Amino acid sequence: MSPHPIDMDTEIPDNHVIVLFGATGDLAKRKIIPGLFHLASAGLLPARYRIVGSTLPNSAMSTEAFRAYARSAVEEYGGYAPTGETWDDFAETLTFVAADRDDFADLTAAVAEAEAQIGGEVRRLFHLAVPPDAVISIIQMLGTSGLHENARVICEKPFGVDLTSARRLNDVIRASFDETQVFRIDHFLGKESIDNILALRFANRLFEPLWNRDHVCFVQIDVPETLSVEDRGAFYEDTGAFRDMVVSHLFQVLGFLAMEHPISLDAGPLGDEVHKVFQSLRPVDPAQVVRGQYEGYRAEEGVAPDSQTETFVALRVGVENTRWKGVPFYLRTGKCLAESRQVITIGFDEPVMRLFPTSQGAPEWRGNKLVVDFADPGSIHAHFLAKEPGPQMRLDSAEMTFHYRDSFQAAKSLKAYEHLMLLAMLGDRALFTRSDGIERLWEVAAPLFESPPPVEIYAKGSWGPASADRLIAPNKWCLPT
Ligand code: BG6
Repeated sequence: MSPHPIDMDTEIPDNHVIVLFGATGDLAKRKIIPGLFHLASAGLLPARYRIVGSTLPNSAMSTEAFRAYARSAVEEYGGYAPTGETWDDFAETLTFVAADRDDFADLTAAVAEAEAQIGGEVRRLFHLAVPPDAVISIIQMLGTSGLHENARVICEKPFGVDLTSARRLNDVIRASFDETQVFRIDHFLGKESIDNILALRFANRLFEPLWNRDHVCFVQIDVPETLSVEDRGAFYEDTGAFRDMVVSHLFQVLGFLAMEHPISLDAGPLGDEVHKVFQSLRPVDPAQVVRGQYEGYRAEEGVAPDSQTETFVALRVGVENTRWKGVPFYLRTGKCLAESRQVITIGFDEPVMRLFPTSQGAPEWRGNKLVVDFADPGSIHAHFLAKEPGPQMRLDSAEMTFHYRDSFQAAKSLKAYEHLMLLAMLGDRALFTRSDGIERLWEVAAPLFESPPPVEIYAKGSWGPASADRLIAPNKWCLPT
């Protein structure tokens, strides 16, 4: 790849020491390390930077071993070869230091050394790629060791496991960090196609006037995955599909879909509009939720033999405001399903009058659909009815399609994590979630945690329990297409 494919006018962050907690974990291996290398290759890391990998002492390694580990992570998950001068320069910035939960002396020394190597004014970025139960002690130690000064911190989802734990976490964070230093990451908000929802709606008069209850009859946000819980059984067992995917990702996507026009795209106004959507969300009604568990989940490592954790969830929620009252929002996601897709479907009402006969094979339902496929690289499809060629005025289904891949230079795109890590280094919080928003979402979710419906077992490779179809009847899930 060319070393600098991104626009020359893209802002470059100030010099940084980046500390990666959980440096040998799944997330670091799959997304963060390959992402940092892509940023480096694209010329988007600071002029001078050092990356310090850190873990608990029981998984410590030497700097040499960490460099080799990083190289294999890039080889396996990066999609661009770790070779040549670009790799050598990047690898040279990597060091490793273990940090106990209650002793940051070595880490503090390593950061000081990295700062001395960089010289001058240096910012600190702490990326906490660790399980939720490790976050509090790290944040507290950053405060007591003084490392929080001139620092920003990226916190991973799930941000707490319920309202009480999220509030506690926010309190601990506030004790050491100002809110402007905190970047709660939800990588779906870094995906090109999710950010493009803002452009689609607010830059195009073609869509926004129809984006309300007068024209939209349903919204679906559907993220089935073929993946199992893989080697994350222990994490998943305590988390489940609802916390892992709905509170964190699907509700955030809903926020972008449903928000009012923000006065600007800055973090404040954008976050305010998303927050208003969350405030208008009806609390989740357990009767409108289907929880499923794939056959064989209980035999996964780290999972209880009588586990009641859901690996599938489908639900119907509502946004109680003037724009959306009465429009059902259907959300569905799960593991070991028939396909891996990431799709939003907006269903538009049928025209008031039925003027045209349809041809055989055309759908009985004559509303239009706008489908946003937000799996990278992403596409948008407008489904409509068109006149079938021939002497008769008869309609059949037709589709207009936009593919990111065909329309823009792929080299310019950043993956979600890369995009968000860059924004965090630049101090831009527009695409990060806010403490008040997250607390509100846990509040909305509380009735489900109080009385969860029983999990229903489903076959691997299926579309989940049949109850999920009944949940949305007489509507239908738009997937599979
Ligand atoms: C993560 C979840 O946040 O998102 C995973 O923990 C899920 O369970 C993943 O598979 C999906 O993300 P992506 O990058 O495939 O869009």
